[in-house]
Amino acid sequence: MDQVDIGWQGLLVLAKEARLAPLDMGWCALSLEPQDPRIGLETVPEGPAGPVVIIELDGRCPAVPQGAAVLRMRGWVEAQVVAGGAIDGATLGLLRLYAPYALGSVLARRRGRAMSVSHFAQSLDGRIATFTGDSRWIGNEDNLIHAHRMRALCDGILIGAQTLRRDKPRLNVRRVPGDDPARIVLGARGDELADLLQVSSARLLLVCSPKAPNDDARIEHLQVAASGAGPVKPAAILKALYDSGIHSVYVEGGSHTTSGFLTDNALDVVQLHHAPLILGGGVGSFGFEGVEEVRSSVRFDAHFYEPVGDGVMFVGAPSSFGEENA
Ligand SMILES: NC(=O)c1ccc[n+]([C@@H]2O[C@H](COP(=O)([O-])OP(=O)(O)OC[C@H]3O[C@@H](n4cnc5c(N)ncnc54)[C@H](OP(=O)(O)O)[C@@H]3O)[C@@H](O)[C@H]2O)c1
Repeated sequence: MDQVDIGWQGLLVLAKEARLAPLDMGWCALSLEPQDPRIGLETVPEGPAGPVVIIELDGRCPAVPQGAAVLRMRGWVEAQVVAGGAIDGATLGLLRLYAPYALGSVLARRRGRAMSVSHFAQSLDGRIATFTGDSRWIGNEDNLIHAHRMRALCDGILIGAQTLRRDKPRLNVRRVPGDDPARIVLGARGDELADLLQVSSARLLLVCSPKAPNDDARIEHLQVAASGAGPVKPAAILKALYDSGIHSVYVEGGSHTTSGFLTDNALDVVQLHHAPLILGGGVGSFGFEGVEEVRSSVRFDAHFYEPVGDGVMFVGAPSSFGEENA
């Protein structure tokens, strides 16, 4: 195993242990020991240990071990590298990008709702599918690996009914080591989930759909009350998912679903993979009643661009929807 593989195993362990971390945890340590990566919550794991990575959330590690790398969380968008220590560049890049999602449970428990991260692969003109609905594949191979890493680190993956019908995604983890997330589908019928039941034994949740008498018993129906007339609020869906044990959700579209999350202030992080192609028309990534003036646009509290194969991924934490910018 090279250091990147060990780093990935460490992130998977971190994602599990973060569920047990105290809410006010200031920092944690990741010991990248081959075969047995270990986590210390405000402590450095003892005994024979591999290279150590300190991840600082709100606090500072008082005694950084010699040779350790130090990463500091910038909100929940990235874990910036403060010191590289004995960790190679590729592994640092992996940890910088994915540590915030491995730590998603801490943010979720602080907020009392699941952390949410959306992802689209889009053309240069902002389309996630052609006018016929075809979207395979706008992103490149590296983007698919990225999506599978996100699936493995998040407790759940969520899609809307039209994406289920059009793309028939398997929603499992195939391109990297890791467990399949719970599958969450909005607005579909139970009989449309037959393929997903075959693909994986991970939880399968149907949200906002009436239960039919012949629905498979393995499908969990999650009823979320609407606060008034109109569709169920995505923030209420994230609260209900959290109550059912799902602390982080990867929102994989489509446009209608993800736009609903954005406009309900229910997206913590937006990931947009920009592929070097133009479609000229089709399904836009975000669609809602547009703003009149640029100063009312959705902005980001923090963001960065990450090269991904021949494309580039925007990663940002949206500021409140509807807020005016100076
Ligand atoms: N390039 C990419 O990264 C990417 C990723 C995903 C999808 N896509 C493309 O996107 C297209 C589909 O997008 P879309 O916007 O048409 O559909 P969509 O978002 O996949 O599904 C919309 C449906 O989901 C249900 N839904 C969404 N939010 C809901 C809520 N808050 N409460 C209840 N139900 C909710 C509704 O079902 P009901 O109306 O039945 O209630 C709604 O009609 C496809 O062409 C697909 O290929 C591209």
